[in-house]
Amino acid sequence: MSRKPFHSSLDFVAPAKRNLPKFAFDFIEGGSGDEKAVRHNVESFENLKLIPHLRSKLGDTSLNSRILGLDYAAPFGVAPLGLCGLINPKADSILAKVAAKYNVPYVISAASNQSIETIVKAAGVPPWFQLYIPNVKAQLSNLLKKAEANACPVLVVTVDTPVPGRRLRDLKNGLKLPYKLNYANVVEAMKHPLWTVDRLLAGKIIFPNFDDAVSDNPNLTFRDLVAMQTGGDLNWLVIEKIREIWKAKLVLKGVLSPADAVHAQKLGVDAVIISNHGGRQLNAAPAPINMAPIFLDAGLKKDFLMLDSGIRSGEDIISSLARGASFSFMGRAFLYALAANGEKGVENLFDIIIDELSVNLKLLGLDCPADVSAKNSFGG
Ligand SMILES: Cc1cc2nc3c(=O)[nH]c(=O)nc-3n(C[C@H](O)[C@H](O)[C@H](O)COP(=O)(O)O)c2cc1C
Repeated sequence: MSRKPFHSSLDFVAPAKRNLPKFAFDFIEGGSGDEKAVRHNVESFENLKLIPHLRSKLGDTSLNSRILGLDYAAPFGVAPLGLCGLINPKADSILAKVAAKYNVPYVISAASNQSIETIVKAAGVPPWFQLYIPNVKAQLSNLLKKAEANACPVLVVTVDTPVPGRRLRDLKNGLKLPYKLNYANVVEAMKHPLWTVDRLLAGKIIFPNFDDAVSDNPNLTFRDLVAMQTGGDLNWLVIEKIREIWKAKLVLKGVLSPADAVHAQKLGVDAVIISNHGGRQLNAAPAPINMAPIFLDAGLKKDFLMLDSGIRSGEDIISSLARGASFSFMGRAFLYALAANGEKGVENLFDIIIDELSVNLKLLGLDCPADVSAKNSFGG
């Protein structure tokens, strides 16, 4: 593990690749099909321009941000990341703990490998709770009860996953749970003894948020599990039902159609995350950053709009604000940091993003994140 701090989120990628067996690195990095959506997400941020203004006030800038009635120290959070026990056995609680330390939201994936109770204990605050629509109805109500019992302030329903995307790297690597290691994966595990010892000491990867029948079934492959967790009837009726049952804030993640967002708003949904799942689902999906202005044109307010997919820097977060999303999430960047340098790596990444946000706000002559769109900083 490297001891020196890094200065950009991209610096973590090469050490993450070195530290992880190929099948684990590919699980983070990969997308669906030929991965054009993954590339397009990142490239779409490249040519965005921001216009600086002369500042009208004296004094400090602040990154404080309010979303869904909740106050945070910055306008971004940690996206839900399932199966990250493959990267580090304590991945979920490390990410939750560091997010809490920096006072930004952490979204626990229903497919986390540590229980929500363990995560709440590590972080000291309840996470936002993400769920797919499982094909067993009882699972859905059990997950909702679990989220409510743990005082999760926001439920995030992922709507871009009626089935798991075709992730070719995972298919080629034979990524399966429980491990049925093929020859190539055994060689990879041997080439990464630190990862392997850590993983062996932690025991088998489990999915503690799901019922025992699911998490303890030794014959279930990862693909089976994902298929069970995502195989439910994903339609507006189920969203209406969830809205009736779930009393706290409700968010739909993976919305790319402004018409869907308008419909969600009519049903009482509190916000949407414009997302293509980091290019892991529909490979032909547009980059969310390019869609955000179209959501505004459809009459939606920026408070209703959050965004993820392709964000790798504080500057990208400011570009998202400039294009109309009031809050952003990052996924892969946190996992690269974790794989590169554990908890310290994640803290290092938070420091980088916060510094990038702060420096760029000052360079733009703005007082706070809300000013990015209020002062019209988007430069095409
Ligand atoms: C390894 C990995 C696991 C993920 N697991 C989930 C999940 O369980 N639920 C979900 O809604 N999205 C999941 N996502 C998608 C992220 O929440 C997020 O939408 C995406 O990572 C954003 O793109 P970015 O990685 O370019 O930042 C996952 C993404 C990655 C990379």
